[in-house]
This record gives sequence, C-alpha cells and structure tokens, in this order.
Amino acid sequence: MAALLFLLSLIPAFAYIKEGELYELIGPSIEDFQKEFHGELRVICFYVPFSSEYTRFSSAYFHAAKELAKQKLPLKLAKIDATNPKNAEYIKKYDVGGYPAIVYFPAEIDEFYHYAGDRRKEAFIASFKEKTLKLREFADTDAFDKYMSENGLHGLVLGVFQEFSGTKYEVFREAAKNLVHIYPFAIVKDKGEWFAKFDISEEGILILRAQFLIGPKDRAAIANHKLENSTTIEEWVKHNYHPHISYFTKETKASFDQSQAPFVMFLFNLDPAHPEEIKQNLLNFHESANPYYNANFKDRRFLFVLADKKEFNKGLEPIDLDKDKAIMLTVMRNDRFVLREYEIFNDNGKFLKLNVDAYIKGLETNSLIPYVKSETTDVKSENGIKILVGGEFEDKVVNSELNQIIFTYSKNDRLTQPTLQILEDVAFHYKDDHTLEFLKIDADLNELKGEYNKPHLPNIFLAHKENKRVPNRFVDADITKEKLIKFIEDELTPKKEDL
Ligand SMILES: *[C@@H]1O[C@H](CO)[C@@H](O)[C@H](O)[C@H]1NC(C)=O
Repeated sequence: MAALLFLLSLIPAFAYIKEGELYELIGPSIEDFQKEFHGELRVICFYVPFSSEYTRFSSAYFHAAKELAKQKLPLKLAKIDATNPKNAEYIKKYDVGGYPAIVYFPAEIDEFYHYAGDRRKEAFIASFKEKTLKLREFADTDAFDKYMSENGLHGLVLGVFQEFSGTKYEVFREAAKNLVHIYPFAIVKDKGEWFAKFDISEEGILILRAQFLIGPKDRAAIANHKLENSTTIEEWVKHNYHPHISYFTKETKASFDQSQAPFVMFLFNLDPAHPEEIKQNLLNFHESANPYYNANFKDRRFLFVLADKKEFNKGLEPIDLDKDKAIMLTVMRNDRFVLREYEIFNDNGKFLKLNVDAYIKGLETNSLIPYVKSETTDVKSENGIKILVGGEFEDKVVNSELNQIIFTYSKNDRLTQPTLQILEDVAFHYKDDHTLEFLKIDADLNELKGEYNKPHLPNIFLAHKENKRVPNRFVDADITKEKLIKFIEDELTPKKEDL
C-alpha cells in the first residue's frame, strides 16, 4: 500500500482523468483545469459518490456534457469527489454546502457562481449554453473601428438596437447563443450615430465582412431588418458571413464540416505581427484569384478558404512551406490533403495565374496526387530490417514479389523496443531465406495505408506476395521469438505445399 501511494504521488498534478466528456479533478489538478480552459466556461460539480441523489443527478449531468460537446461550445464540464480529503481545500474555497453542488466560472473570469437552476439534462444544456454567450459591446464608433481594423481576418455580426430589450433584441440574442461559438457577435445601442454610420433606418443585424477578405464582388456590410426568429437569422448569417472566401482555422473547421464541397486551401503566412504584409498578399490574391471563387453560392464546386500555414504545417512537414510569402494550393476532403507545390506568387510578388489554372484543372480532372505523409531517411536498413517510408508503400510493398513481415510502430510506445528486439532475432533466423523480407515503418512520421493502419501500435503483419493489401496480423500480445517464428511458418507453409 505504501508503495502504491508513493507511485501515485509521482503522477504529475496535471494528469487529470477524463471520463467521456467529463473531467474528474483531484486536488491541485483543479488549478490546472482552470488555467488550461480559462478562455471557456468551466462548470464543476462537487459530488458524494453512491448517494441516491447523485445517481440520478450524475446521469443528467453526464449526458448534458456529452450533448454539449457535440455542439462544440466553448465550455468544459468537470466533477470533484467531495469525500476525497485532497479536495477539502476546494470545497472551502468555492463555498460548497450540500451535494451535489455546481459552481461555474464564465470564460476569462476567475470569480465563481453557484448554479441554482433545474437539474435535468435539458435544463443543464440550455443554461450552460446561455452562459457561454459572450456578446461584445462597443461604447462608441471609434471602439468599433479599432476592433475591425485589428481583426482583418474576422468579420462581425452586429446587432443594432435602440434599447437592449424587446422582441427583436431577444430573437437576436437567441440566434447569437447558437452561433457565438462560430462567429463573433456584438451589440450596440443607437443614439443616432450607428444608424447614420451604416445608413440604416431601423433596428436590425449587420454582417460586417473581414476587411482582408472582402473580394471585388462583396459588399463590406449587409443588413437584415426582419429578425423574424432565430432560425431565419441563423440561416442568413451562415449564408452571408463567408460569401466567396473564408478564413479557416482548426477551430472553425467543424463549422465547415457539413459542406459536401471539397476545400481548396490557400496557405499563407498569416503572421499577425505583419498585418501590412498580410494585407498586401491578400490584395494581390483577390485581384487575380477572384474569377475562381466568385461563382454563385449554388454553383460553387469548391470552397475556397485561406488558412495560416503555421496551423497546418503539421503533417505537411516534408514539403517546404518555409518560404516567406509562400503559398501552396491544397484541397482537403475528409482531412486528406491533395496538393500541388505550385506557388501562387513569384519572388517579386506577382500572381502566377498559370499555376492556379493548372491546379483548378487538376482538381476537376482528379489528376492531383493525394498527399501521403512520408519522412525520407538516409538509413536504408537496421539489423536486418529495411526501413520503409509512407511514400514508398505502393512501390516497395504492393508491387513487391516477396513475402514480407511489416512492423508498424510509434517510437514512444513502451512495447516498441522489446518487440523490435524479438523481430530482429527472427529476421536473423531467416537471413538466408531470400523469399522473405523484413520491413519497419515509423507511424509517427509516415502514413499507414488501408489494413496496415490500426489504432493500436506496434503491430506485426505478414503480407503474402499474392495479397499485399490484406495482410495477416500477429495477434498474441505476449510475443516471443518462438511464437513469431511459428506464426510465420504456419502462414507460409501451406503456400509452399501449393507449389
Ligand atoms: C421562422 O420564420 C420563418 C419565416 O417566416 C418560418 O417559415 C418558420 O417556420 C419560423 N420558425 C420558427 C421556429 O418559428
């Protein structure tokens, strides 16, 4: 027992446990949770396990967490066992009385509030969702202008009202609640200046396009005065916020996922430290590329998006994206990149229209080669095992006429080294058999294809020369040299008899 406690105390404090969408916090990990998700609404429930209230309550809380996670709202739900002495300090700190008790912290705020609402799943969902709503408010038009000039890639959905009350205002808030995790929303109270600024005559919503993304056919601001109900507002915002070209980040990716059209991503160096450079690049881009992305909404076969290459560099490392203004065209379907290393600008900043033409043609005729993650290496073989990289898979596996043993691994997995050692012994055992080849592929650096791509690593596959796409996997978790040799013999012997 003492040894176990000792081991537990070695587990770093930030290693909190996650049960589905719920975080289980213990002692100081509460602090880490607060820090890590400070920008989101944090909800923490203190509970006494096995109490009858808790059983009913926890099911509602758990299912609410699951549902809310699906909606990708900026919030995190956690629970804390009130009977664990390690948590006593926090019970005091957050002034918790009866159980279960819920406290929450709005985004960016350190103050805590006690949740006093209904304890059914639907109530949790509605209430927590409401609490994530952050509506920016501009005191005057200067504050607004400043915001827009500092956010060249983000537009704004702005509600202009005479009073922050009334049916129109409520309907707007309702729509904002459902969309605020995708688009920035703000409200202003008009004393004459806002109606004048936007040349409108009544209360309504405006979509203000991101200034760097305004293409030649886009109006910088469009207004809607109807505000019928939240559904019609949501539709209108979704349709008009990104008219021709959008700004795309990993975070906003989810809001594009319903789209059937593939993405054409233009990867730019969007370093916020150099706004003038971004502006100049995008101006060049709009001037020359707008014939490609200006098709009517219904007729668009591709969604054109701009993205920061830094965000998408991971997975694209083998390709040199490091040039200053560098630009590359990629298309993405279900997370798969298809790409061409065409540049959009030459070294003098001149737009290379021919490259865009060639790329679009390639997309339309499906002739672009999918991108395969593949890290080249100078080492060809280690201890009798050849080194395979992602890009060589067709050539060296599918087209090979040998039987092959293929080891797929991640360097950091604790089973990798011991398994590799056994494999090397077995490779040595077969060193004189020239019909059998041993290969290994590092799954951290290379894409695994088809049947070779299994969620758990490491794996050993036997790929028969007749059927490379459907290999047999060695499944005994307790691997030994003898077992592996037996597996290979069993797999290959009947084939020898066939001859
Ligand atoms: C919202 O308004 C539209 C248009 O008037 C209508 O068709 C729709 O049924 C309304 N939806 C709700 C939920 O009231």
